[in-house]
Amino acid sequence: MKAIILSGGKGTRLRPLTYTGAKQLVPVANKPILWYGIESIVEAGITEIGIIISPETGEEVKAKTGNGDRFGANITYILQEKPAGLAHAVKVAQSFLADSPFVMYLGDNLVQSELGLFLEHFHSNHLDALTLLCPVENPSAFGVAEVDEKGRLLRLVEKPKVPPSNLALVGVYIFSSGIHGAIAAIQPSARGELEITDAIQTLIEQQKAVEARQIRGWWLDTGKKDDLLEANRVILDTCCMEPRIQGELDTESKIIGRVQLGVGTKVINSTIRGPVVIGENCHIENCFIGPYTSIADRVRMVDVDLEHSVLLQGATVEGIHHRIVDSLIGQRAQLTEAPKRPKAFRFMVGDDCQIELA
Ligand code: TTP
Repeated sequence: MKAIILSGGKGTRLRPLTYTGAKQLVPVANKPILWYGIESIVEAGITEIGIIISPETGEEVKAKTGNGDRFGANITYILQEKPAGLAHAVKVAQSFLADSPFVMYLGDNLVQSELGLFLEHFHSNHLDALTLLCPVENPSAFGVAEVDEKGRLLRLVEKPKVPPSNLALVGVYIFSSGIHGAIAAIQPSARGELEITDAIQTLIEQQKAVEARQIRGWWLDTGKKDDLLEANRVILDTCCMEPRIQGELDTESKIIGRVQLGVGTKVINSTIRGPVVIGENCHIENCFIGPYTSIADRVRMVDVDLEHSVLLQGATVEGIHHRIVDSLIGQRAQLTEAPKRPKAFRFMVGDDCQIELA
């Protein structure tokens, strides 16, 4: 059994963060989203992993993730020249996969499920495809499945106006090598991509053994800012985050609840109320940091009151005398405000940024 993780694509929905970096490397609770997928695959007993990368962000994904040693896996990087669709990515990975059955994992999805149990079901029922489903409130925004009472997949529809169910396709699939023939038989869709849903539909029409199973845990598609903040909240809440203080805290500072503080981080005259994770070599002074916040390495925060937010590496937030909430602040971004009651704001804002003075 092998696995591929799709970590190419365009990443238009998380712009502007994804102009400069791979969206799969955006951290949730200070760990790249992609790594959660790798860990879940390794936990299910698969160690031969191919990661699909794009020419634009591939080097960054490689440099950050490495050869797999840190996960106990063997990682092969597979270049997809253009983001020509999920089924196209499988095509590009065909020589890596050979005739092995495999898991296909979308590198920007976070899924809490026991992949091992689904693999067992796939093998013991000799399936050609097993898709995972999750009930959602707005099925029209997703690929949706129609399933019979035995769990057999009858039909898949992409973003339907009238959804046949509330069951969305989660970004984790298990295939036999039969999927390659189905992909060879499909044509690009109206948006010009080779769609994996079309390939699965082909398997269904060929009467192959195609099933779908609902996951019991959560599934988070981290495509947009609010999804990412929600993912951060859920991970900080549910993944048993052990309190761990490796940085320095002065006597004026207070830590309440589950908080992690990385090596070399200094906290001066501040209160941190968990769950919060703070990386290495940060400087936190005169701040209140509230629940569901993740702060990456080398962040500087002075005179700030902030909660339910994600700050990426090297960001500076200084002298903001208003509470900051629900915010995603990119790498090396600087947010500063000098006087207590500003007469005016001065901005230098890049393309596609969103600033809300709420
Ligand atoms: P999508 O979210 O379907 O596509 P995208 O990354 O182009 O994103 P956006 O909608 O924000 O523009 O991709 C799901 C995952 O699969 C994601 O990790 C990117 C990856 N992917 C590839 O590796 N190759 C591809 O051809 C496509 C379409 C996606």
